[in-house]
Amino acid sequence: MPTKAVIFDAYGTLFDIHAPTAKAAAVIGDPDVAAALGKTWRDKQLQYSWLLSLMGAVKPFWDVTQDALDYALEAHGLEANAGLKKNLLDLYFEIDCYDDVLPLFDAIGGMDAGPQTAVLSNGSRNMLDAAAKSSGLSERLDAVLSVEAVGIFKPDGRVYALAEETFGHKASEMTFVSCNGWDAWAAAHYGFQTVWLNRFDLPEERLPGAPKAIIKGLDALPELLA
Ligand code: LAC
Repeated sequence: MPTKAVIFDAYGTLFDIHAPTAKAAAVIGDPDVAAALGKTWRDKQLQYSWLLSLMGAVKPFWDVTQDALDYALEAHGLEANAGLKKNLLDLYFEIDCYDDVLPLFDAIGGMDAGPQTAVLSNGSRNMLDAAAKSSGLSERLDAVLSVEAVGIFKPDGRVYALAEETFGHKASEMTFVSCNGWDAWAAAHYGFQTVWLNRFDLPEERLPGAPKAIIKGLDALPELLA
């Protein structure tokens, strides 16, 4: 059975989470420090999303992203540069998509009776709308779904349920695609047919659930959807 809808994670899957720090590398002065800053920023952003969910203290992902950046800048001794912080946040708000994203949506758009498409992200409404618009994805997506509608972050099942509620399909009839191993495993555990986009060449997770396929780039996705 062809998949009825493809549900994409946003940050790291469609949007290039390392682009902001790479673009600011000249200001940071050292590409290795820029890369390390980007890693700390992302790690803290995800950790805070899980911790705030557990603490019952969820706040918008845009605020979480700023808190994580404050932590990362201090961790790398860059907190005195207020201009750098603003620059990085502006770049993250209108973040680039990866090179394999628009060709993938062209391929899906060219499929006979192709699947519906959506983003399902921790991202807050304002940042998702800005990124979808600036990357040219807005008009290619059937839906942009933010966790803001349920007030908790992934991998809570209420977030994954948003895709079922939006399209009226069961999770098992849809394909979920994420670069985040934890997200791919959790979505598989929830019931989706899941593709782990292993962009960052990481080991498989040791969590319940298992993806039905593992790919390195989105160019490999269309043949899995037919
Ligand atoms: C998202 C993060 C987890 O877009 O990548 O939901």
